Amino acid sequence: MENESGKIEIRPTKDGSTTLYSERFSQLYHNPNGAVAESRYVFFETPGVTEAIKTDDEITVFEMGFGTGLNLILMNDYLKRSEGNCRVNFFSVELYPIGPETAAELTFGEEFQSQRPAKLLRDIFDNLNPGMNRFEISEKLTLELFFGSFNDLPSPGKKTDYIFHDPFSPEVNSELWSADVFKKLAGFSKPEVVLSTYCAATSARAAMAAGGWKVAKSRGPLGKREMTIAALDEQKLKGFKRVNEQRLIERYRAGEFLQATF
Ligand SMILES: C[S@@+](CC[C@H](N)C(=O)[O-])C[C@H]1O[C@@H](n2cnc3c(N)ncnc32)[C@H](O)[C@@H]1O
Repeated sequence: MENESGKIEIRPTKDGSTTLYSERFSQLYHNPNGAVAESRYVFFETPGVTEAIKTDDEITVFEMGFGTGLNLILMNDYLKRSEGNCRVNFFSVELYPIGPETAAELTFGEEFQSQRPAKLLRDIFDNLNPGMNRFEISEKLTLELFFGSFNDLPSPGKKTDYIFHDPFSPEVNSELWSADVFKKLAGFSKPEVVLSTYCAATSARAAMAAGGWKVAKSRGPLGKREMTIAALDEQKLKGFKRVNEQRLIERYRAGEFLQATF
């Protein structure tokens, strides 16, 4: 299949959900051991989003890279199952959206079927125009999806509580892993924001530190040794193993990661 996203292929993952392979980036969108399992662990469980949904009245999430829409589908599912009344503003950005036909062929496993994710995603991708798009997904969930580059993204109307940092890896999608990107993300955010990513690369952690974030390691998903979690307030990283930010900032400023972050 070929469209804005270039040539992409649908691939099964080991937990029964599908992902995509991007020829443009020579990379899968998710862990081949389980797209749904990875996203639940990295973006919902580790940073505490599952808890916030139960206890908070409103949260604002920013996702870097809408991709297949899996994180929106998961958010919708968590909200449907929750007895709380949390409202979620879900902001995301996508430079190379997939086509509606591709979106409709993605599957996320039996548990999601009642929500008809294929129809929801087809409708979103069918109605996507360059710039900002707004979709009322349910009474509890609003999506604001910017079709364009993160570089051109205006500041979302609401300050962010959680950031799902989900670009391709720094080797192939380096423009989304620079200190300037993390500075811009900090500017979007509340002081108590928590950022999480599957990535455990030292270059990525150094860019976060140089962009003003406190940084920590956490156990990775699906047998991966590590992932990364970051915050503006170090109190939010209690219980996680901190990295030496000062040393990483020095290495970043000395140009040690130039190739990885350009
Ligand atoms: C790993 S995939 C995202 C996975 C997605 N969160 C999901 O669950 O399917 C990374 C996404 O970032 C998008 N992307 C890459 N560079 C971008 C840029 N400069 N601005 C906005 N989106 C970008 C890619 O097109 C791709 O959809």
